[in-house]
Amino acid sequence: MRKVKTLGLLGTGVIGGGWAARALHFGIDVIAADVKPEMEAWMRGAVANAEPALARLTSAPLPPKGRLSFTTNLREMAEKADFIQENIPEQLELKQRLLGEVSRHAAADVIIASSTSGLMPSDLQRDMTAPERFCVAHPFNPVYLLPLVEVVGGAKTTQTTIDAASDFLRYIGMHPLHVRREVPGHLTDRLQEALWREILHMVNDGVATTGELDDAIIYGPGLRWAAMGTNLIYHLAGGESGMRHMLAQFGPCLKWPWTKLEAPELTETLIDRMVEGTQAEARGRSIRELERLRDDYLVAIQQVLRQYDIGAGSTLRALEERLYRDSDAQTPAADLDAPGPLRLIDTTVRPEWVDYNSHMTDYRYLHVAGEAQDALYRLVGIDDAYRRSGRMFYDVESHVAYLREAKAGEPVYMTTQVLDVDDKRLRVFHRLHRRSDDALLSHCEQMHLHVDTAAAKAAPIEAGVRARLERLRKAHAALAVPAAAGRGIGSARA
Ligand SMILES: NC(=O)c1ccc[n+]([C@@H]2O[C@H](COP(=O)([O-])OP(=O)(O)OC[C@H]3O[C@@H](n4cnc5c(N)ncnc54)[C@H](O)[C@@H]3O)[C@@H](O)[C@H]2O)c1
Repeated sequence: MRKVKTLGLLGTGVIGGGWAARALHFGIDVIAADVKPEMEAWMRGAVANAEPALARLTSAPLPPKGRLSFTTNLREMAEKADFIQENIPEQLELKQRLLGEVSRHAAADVIIASSTSGLMPSDLQRDMTAPERFCVAHPFNPVYLLPLVEVVGGAKTTQTTIDAASDFLRYIGMHPLHVRREVPGHLTDRLQEALWREILHMVNDGVATTGELDDAIIYGPGLRWAAMGTNLIYHLAGGESGMRHMLAQFGPCLKWPWTKLEAPELTETLIDRMVEGTQAEARGRSIRELERLRDDYLVAIQQVLRQYDIGAGSTLRALEERLYRDSDAQTPAADLDAPGPLRLIDTTVRPEWVDYNSHMTDYRYLHVAGEAQDALYRLVGIDDAYRRSGRMFYDVESHVAYLREAKAGEPVYMTTQVLDVDDKRLRVFHRLHRRSDDALLSHCEQMHLHVDTAAAKAAPIEAGVRARLERLRKAHAALAVPAAAGRGIGSARA
């Protein structure tokens, strides 16, 4: 399968717009096709709305944004795209007809995927040319922030298609979940629908309002579900004997049963209760306002989960590692023997880095120094494999001096000078500069101690890493030692 530089979208509503925002953000060009020309403006608006939240998701270096173009000509889209994602309304015949048409205009090595929420891939690929390159790639709203995407093959889909589609989806920061057997509703919508059916019953029977039922989730199970699913959570609930005890204790209730399988009739009264209930919950806030609130907490949750390397947080970590790898590959390898200092970080002061004074807040200076330090580690061979082997540097001391303001949107760069290195210690001096006039904004001197992480004790640096650091030290020895190096707080400024 080919490398994906351009994503083709068929249908640019809520889901198509979400795919566009995600792909563009991670540097993929998008050519979007819709029957309605007015969808171009709508989709550009949707992409712009997604941007503030997406921009906060990670501070890893991003490639230049992709370019967005729009057409009402399905054939033009199909001929230009390297991967096609269909997002038209959930109607089997319409999807079959258009997927068939798209497949006749797209080269045979172009994967064609459908966002369908529950139609079967074997049905969808029925009229396609080269149906083996078709699969379902079912995302979740908002597509630009939620990593889950269910990947489902039909009878004619090859494993190569599943693998290549999953690789691309991972590349744009998603978590492809391979659904091994096609079933109506895939996995997640089947689960969601079961819950929704119970909600409809309880509202219909006057047991609870929509707001009370939402509270029943968000103050409890919803918080758990962000990182542990129902099964693992129930395993924990069963005490020392886990799931076995849980099934023994609560298994009989499944027979009573507490829940109702058939959905209730959607009467006018029930529809009114659902609509009025959710309007009351919205408390006058518009859909746009609620979307912004949702996007903000979705970003925050993923960043917290990232710290625990769990669920969507692990996906974010993997994405960041890929972004750093790609960025390092783009940057000409720094010459370890060049006179230095190293220029390892070129970035822009992000809006969320500034405080109420509208300049960069103090701990962000340390954050940028941390990014430079990570780049230095990658340069000398400290990567994920090295960390997994139980070795790493820990920061043991930092001294930051704030010299000038850094304003939101200002391009800045950081240089790094290796002052000293021995078997266990590394001393560096980072300088943050404004790109427009090279003015020095801040400097940060740091001592890092090499540790055996399992023993939580200082331990010698691995020989190859040590040798590379030594080359840097020798090269940087020709530089003047910064006058501020080793300076105590309050001592005269250099
Ligand atoms: N909305 C969700 O939460 C959600 C989540 C996951 C998957 N999906 C699935 O994604 C698909 C799209 O859903 P949506 O919510 O974005 O719908 P939508 O109604 O917002 O968008 C559908 C778009 O398809 C366009 N369209 C209709 N006929 C077309 C044609 N012949 N050629 C080109 N474009 C055409 C429409 O103009 C519209 O812009 C559905 O299959 C749905 O099941 C939806």
